Amino acid sequence: MTTPAITSTPEWAALLQHGAVMRDARIADLFTNDPDRFASLTFHVGDLLVDCSKHLATCETLEALLAVAAAADVPGQRDAMFAGERINTSEHRAVGHVALRRAGDEPFMVGGKDVMPSVHATLQAMAAFTNQVHEGVRRGATGEVFTDVVNIGIGGSDLGPRMVTAALAPWHTNSLRSHFVANVDPANLHDVLDGLNPATTLLIVASKSFGTLETLTNARAARAWLTAALGEAAVADHFVAVSANAERVAQFGINPTNMFTFGDWVGGRYSVWSSIGLSVMLAVGPDYFRALLDGAHEMDEHFHTAPPEGNVPLLLGMLDVWYRNVHELQSQAVLPYDDHLQLLPAYLQQAMMESNGKQVRRDGQQVGEDTSPVLWGAAGTNGQHTFHQMLHQGTTPVPCDFLVAMQGHTPDAAQHLDLVANCIAQAEALMMGRTEAQVREALAEDGLDEAAIDALAPHKVMPGNRPTTMFLYPQLTPHMLGMLLACWEHRIFTAAAVWGINAFDQWGVELGKMLATSIRPMLAGDALPDARDASTLGLIAHVLKHR
Ligand code: F6P
Repeated sequence: MTTPAITSTPEWAALLQHGAVMRDARIADLFTNDPDRFASLTFHVGDLLVDCSKHLATCETLEALLAVAAAADVPGQRDAMFAGERINTSEHRAVGHVALRRAGDEPFMVGGKDVMPSVHATLQAMAAFTNQVHEGVRRGATGEVFTDVVNIGIGGSDLGPRMVTAALAPWHTNSLRSHFVANVDPANLHDVLDGLNPATTLLIVASKSFGTLETLTNARAARAWLTAALGEAAVADHFVAVSANAERVAQFGINPTNMFTFGDWVGGRYSVWSSIGLSVMLAVGPDYFRALLDGAHEMDEHFHTAPPEGNVPLLLGMLDVWYRNVHELQSQAVLPYDDHLQLLPAYLQQAMMESNGKQVRRDGQQVGEDTSPVLWGAAGTNGQHTFHQMLHQGTTPVPCDFLVAMQGHTPDAAQHLDLVANCIAQAEALMMGRTEAQVREALAEDGLDEAAIDALAPHKVMPGNRPTTMFLYPQLTPHMLGMLLACWEHRIFTAAAVWGINAFDQWGVELGKMLATSIRPMLAGDALPDARDASTLGLIAHVLKHR
């Protein structure tokens, strides 16, 4: 059934009209005109403060955006997800990552079946396994305790556990060392296994489908590495699988007793909350893993029940729509001022761009507006000395999300304040900029003559008026990390709901996989080049000749 595009609604027209009014607004002036602006545009969820006052937006903007959200029935679509409906229509699946975060017995029905008992059972099995490894009850084939864990997966089966394990480094409860292998480039596996002792290494093969080429290739190579040292029988002690596909796990030769499952209603990029998070649990222990889930659940409850005008993920998702469609900005940056969050931009890049990089709506009709922005970023303060130049003086504004904890994890509280000060200062600089008059005055104070000021001033002018969101919280605890990640998930969901796209499939990644499979034997000389474009054939011929 064809559904009307949001762009054809009066609410969308009103938003565009409001956008025209706001086009020349200066954020700094909005503060001058409204002394309560910080209070009215700053939101709280638990300990998390989200400052939206440095946006090119007023309360009227939020009203216009919320009218669009209502016209797109974002609340209805959200409720359908929480009700376990099959909202991933092209794959005929429910979308149940929110169920993974629930602690109680309230049912979550998928296809007429309550999945909560299996969610709890898997968590219990993961916790039992983790405790056995920590306590040395579960050991390697030679009887030695495990010292290293290698997670082999890719995409969501890698970035989720890899990012969360790094983010929670101060919360690791044991001396197990965590390693991650994703790339089919053999250098990745080689570099990780080099120096590891097979007798003390636990290998987790993490793949929802258990059919992903990179993961299975690396898993086979890791298995060869293990069995060369310890023999075939060692596989049972050293290999564990996390997957939604028990049959393929068995085909690979991993005993079902060494397998932790999850439902096909968990998307890959939303799966760190499932048994895909086993490597996280091994690092931080079951209690902190639970705290991560609880934090995400707190945000789920907020998204599910808070009124729209104070609903943080909803508002942030609508601001993303505002910048993408009304201001026509192509990218947004995530700038965590936390060294442990270095991988957050990459993780959110998959979450945002694999979810919302779509060109047709759920009904198969072409979308009427641009969808996913390019999401990128890096940890601060490092980025200040690389790409922030472009954020401050480039020709296109990039909305930025800043994240910072008021308290770090080291005894150097004073040095941590350097980090916080820089984070807050960047947002201020992006908003306030520096006018020519201010620049000229400063240069005159420095003693430059008129000609030198004329020459230098244009280079030092900063346009300002660049929008930012500030996420400020007491400390990056497992609970807070859960809240932040769930906040982004729901924000991405919100924009997808407005655009009418399916945020939970990823058909666009399939063609490349298929073509690589057909090119591979040609490169090895096992198949003759077939009818393809001249460039691809030329590259294949070059490899065949020069390799
Ligand atoms: O190719 C894309 C993708 O399917 C991602 O969505 C997913 O996170 C990744 O590959 C890994 O998939 P799997 O967990 O099934 O190996």
